[in-house]
Amino acid sequence: MHETTGNIAKRDGALESPWQTAAYTAATSTSTQQTYDCLIVGAGITGLTTGLLLQQAGKNVIIAEAHTLGFGTTGGTSAHINTFADTTFAEAESAFGEDGAQLFADAIRDGFNLIKHNINELGIDCDYAEKTGYLYAETDEQVKLLHEIYQAMLKVGVPAHYQHNVPTPVAFKKALELPGQAQFHPIEYLLVLRDEFIALGGTLLENTPIDNIESNDGLHVASSGERSIAAQNIIYATHMPPGINVFSFRCAPYRSYVLAVKLTDDTYPDAVIYDLQDPYHYVRTHVIDEEPLLLIGGNDHKTGHDDPEKAFDDLEKYARTYYNVASIEYRWSSQYYIPADGFPYVGQIPFMPDGIFTATGFNGNGMMLGSISAKILADQVMGIENRYSKIFSPSRLKPIDGFTELVKENADVAYHFVADRFGIPETDSLKQLAPGTGKVLELNGSKLAVYCGEDGGIQALSPVCTHAGCIVNFNAAEKTWDCPCHGGRFNTDGSVITGPPTKALQTIKYI
Ligand code: FES
Repeated sequence: MHETTGNIAKRDGALESPWQTAAYTAATSTSTQQTYDCLIVGAGITGLTTGLLLQQAGKNVIIAEAHTLGFGTTGGTSAHINTFADTTFAEAESAFGEDGAQLFADAIRDGFNLIKHNINELGIDCDYAEKTGYLYAETDEQVKLLHEIYQAMLKVGVPAHYQHNVPTPVAFKKALELPGQAQFHPIEYLLVLRDEFIALGGTLLENTPIDNIESNDGLHVASSGERSIAAQNIIYATHMPPGINVFSFRCAPYRSYVLAVKLTDDTYPDAVIYDLQDPYHYVRTHVIDEEPLLLIGGNDHKTGHDDPEKAFDDLEKYARTYYNVASIEYRWSSQYYIPADGFPYVGQIPFMPDGIFTATGFNGNGMMLGSISAKILADQVMGIENRYSKIFSPSRLKPIDGFTELVKENADVAYHFVADRFGIPETDSLKQLAPGTGKVLELNGSKLAVYCGEDGGIQALSPVCTHAGCIVNFNAAEKTWDCPCHGGRFNTDGSVITGPPTKALQTIKYI
């Protein structure tokens, strides 16, 4: 496994991604501003792109990041930039009609082009490379699905054609070639956006979680500990905004897994390749520290549900079945949110005071959708009409016949609200906990989230998620407590890593 020394970008788990190899330096920016045009919460690709767009337009922006730049999903992305998305254009058409599918395709393309534009304009050295993509079907059922995907791509003008020659060792029945895909190093990209944002007068505060917001007469005052930040607009670029809101029931949190491996031979594909299994796999090559690495990812599952270690084991088995693996250099996981009807939610948060926005539900396509969301949000803050505002509005009422995720995901959240309160008593004892592992145990009639440190020390917490009361599960791979309801995640000391919860899990002093 790769060992990194020195100052690296941090991220939201124990496992390291190759993007953390970027030479990370803390941001230094100061501000004497009394009131900002916009406070952006979160310094991932969505927050920093929005901040830069607004600052370029002459606005005064402050970004407050609870941890450090790229700490969340941007630091753990698989860093694909695509012309297509996890919600297929066929699904988009089925749920939103032909015009909706066309707008979605245009939004994906505009997000892609915004990244490319920034890289060119700012001269960003971030391993950007355009690659041919392939999507293949291994069964008759997948062949049918592939054809639907193909036809819908043609309708919205996304280039695709059938191809017999695919650089994959997997036996397939049919495949599409998808020209013009791309990949990059997300943290190298983000660091330059940040520097440009600051050079234009923007303010970035790291390690500044926003605890509360009070709104009065069109002005919002956010607090972080003793500090107050006044702004006319607030954007939550945090995936899920805090509190219990419409997104709690419209977005389902998922975890995705990636291995970066060295091969014993040189069969690294010069392409980005996807299968159609459920959960799916993808393969691509990235050169890190002058060494090619094969990135193999997928095996996604709902956060807090399946066993993350098993997901990694299965991914490794898959890698070793098809490639001559010499060593596994990195393995990491990351979180994303599947929206109920397949499209992201971007804009004013329903039932909150005017001028409080969010962008969430990017599925596995956060690079393009995060970037186009930044443009939509920047336009909304400036009162400029944006052609995607309506279709991605969080207030949309969507009749969804073609998209089945809504029913499945809502049923699942409802199940956890009930099952977590009346669950089957846990009979394991503390003694069964090996160092470095955690488990929810039932002791003396109370549920406890118990973690046994590497030194054998026990850390006991209330397992009741501080967001809406679901019971957290231990993620043995990342050494975190993950909530199965809306994807909230906590450190082993109980502190919040990923919202929507804003409060730590309660510490239990005596057990
Ligand atoms: Fe909503 Fe835990 S994240 S209950």
